[in-house]
Amino acid sequence: MNNLVIKNASQIVTCRGFKGKRGKEMSDLKIIDNGTVIVTNGLISHILKNGEEAELDLSDYTVLDAAGKALLPGFVDPHTHFVFGGYREEEFSWRMRGDSYMDIMNRGGGIINTTKATREAPEDELIEAGKLRLDAMMRLGITTVEGKSGYGLDRDTELKQLRVMQHLNEIHPIDIVATFMGAHAVPSEWKGREEEFVDFNINEMFPVVAEKQLAECVDIFCEKDVFSIEQSRKYLEAARKYGFKLKIHADEVAPLGGAELAAELNCLSADHLLQASDKGIKDMADSEVVATLLPLTAFSLKEKYARACDMIDAGCIVALATDLNPGSSFSSSVPLLFAIACIYMGFSPEEAVTAFTINSAAAVGRADKIGSIDIGKQADMVLLQYPSYKFLPYNIGMNIVETVIKKGEIVI
Ligand code: NIG
Ligand code: FE
Repeated sequence: MNNLVIKNASQIVTCRGFKGKRGKEMSDLKIIDNGTVIVTNGLISHILKNGEEAELDLSDYTVLDAAGKALLPGFVDPHTHFVFGGYREEEFSWRMRGDSYMDIMNRGGGIINTTKATREAPEDELIEAGKLRLDAMMRLGITTVEGKSGYGLDRDTELKQLRVMQHLNEIHPIDIVATFMGAHAVPSEWKGREEEFVDFNINEMFPVVAEKQLAECVDIFCEKDVFSIEQSRKYLEAARKYGFKLKIHADEVAPLGGAELAAELNCLSADHLLQASDKGIKDMADSEVVATLLPLTAFSLKEKYARACDMIDAGCIVALATDLNPGSSFSSSVPLLFAIACIYMGFSPEEAVTAFTINSAAAVGRADKIGSIDIGKQADMVLLQYPSYKFLPYNIGMNIVETVIKKGEIVI
C-alpha cells in the first residue's frame, strides 16, 4: 500500500518545482520547518505546515517520527557507469605515479581494459555486482540512478549491459534510467575505422536498442582523440530520430566545443565540462541543457574542477553526479561529492542540494516525477540524522542518511 506519515521533520527541504532550476533559483530550497509529509499509495499526497491537520483517515498509515531530522528528496545520480566487469586498481596506482588518464587509455588500458572484462563477464555476474553497487548507493540516499552501457562496444555486450540494467530496475528499489553509450571508445577491431564505427552504432545499434526499449538516452564521449564534434553531431542527431534523449561527455580533457554542441542540439545534459569555454557556458545558459558536473572524477584524476560558479552565475541549470565507474571515479560517495562541491568548487550547500535533487532529476528527464517534495510526485525521500541539510557538506565524508524512503516504502 505504501501509506506513510513522516511527522514533524525539523526541516522539509522541498526543492519544490517540476523542472531544472538555474542561477539564483538554485539557492532557494523552499524549506518548511517542523512539517509533516503524507504519502498515499506511494505518492506524496499532503505537505503540512506545523499545526496543520489533514482531513484523512490515517489508521492504515505507518507513522515515522522525524523530530530533529531533515527530510529531503531522494538523491538522483544522473551520470554513472555502474555495470562493468573487472577493476582497474593497477591503473589507479599508475596514475598516482604520474601517468595521465588519456595516456593509459591510448596504451589500451582505460575503457578498453574494462571492455575486455565486461565482454567476458557472464550476465548473472554483472547483475550480482550491479546489485551490490546499487545497495551501496541506496544506503547513501540515492533513489534514482542513470547507468550507461559502453563497456561492450560490440552488439552482444552492449545489449547484455542494457539487459542487466533492465533486470536490476525490475528487482531493485532504485529506479534506473538506462543510457546507450555505444560510442564510449573505439575498440581495437575498429581502430582506423572510427567513422565506420559511428555508422555501425547508428545503423546497427540504435534500431535494436530502440526496438527492444532498452534505453531512454544515448550518450557519446566527445573528446580529443576519441569522437570528434562532427562525429558526435552525426551520432546524436541520428539518435534523436529514434526518440532517444541526448547526453554528451563534453569538454572533459580538451576544450573541443562539446558544451556548444550540446546547446546547439538541445541535449538533455552535457557532462564533465572541466574545460568548457566561456561561449560554451553562455550557450548552455541560453538553453535547457543541464550542465552536469562530476566532482569525484576531477578529484580522482587530480584535475582542476569545473567552473561551477561561472556556470551558476551565467544562469545554467547545474547538476551533480558521482560518475561511478571503474576508472576515473571508482566511487559513489555522496558525502564526498557534497564536500568537494562545497569546499573546492564553490557550491553553496543550497546549490549543491538543488544540483543533486531537482536538477539531477532534470538531467535524466524526470523532473516532473522525482527530485522534489511536491504533491503528486513519487515519494522518494531521505531523512538525515541531523536537523539541517547543511550537515551534508559539513560532516565531511560521513554518511548521515538515516532513513531512505522509496515510493513510500522504508527501504533503509
Ligand atoms: O565519465 N570519460 C569517459 N567515461 C567515463 C570513464 C570511463 C572509464 O574510465 O572507464 C567518465 O569519466
Ligand atoms: Fe562518464
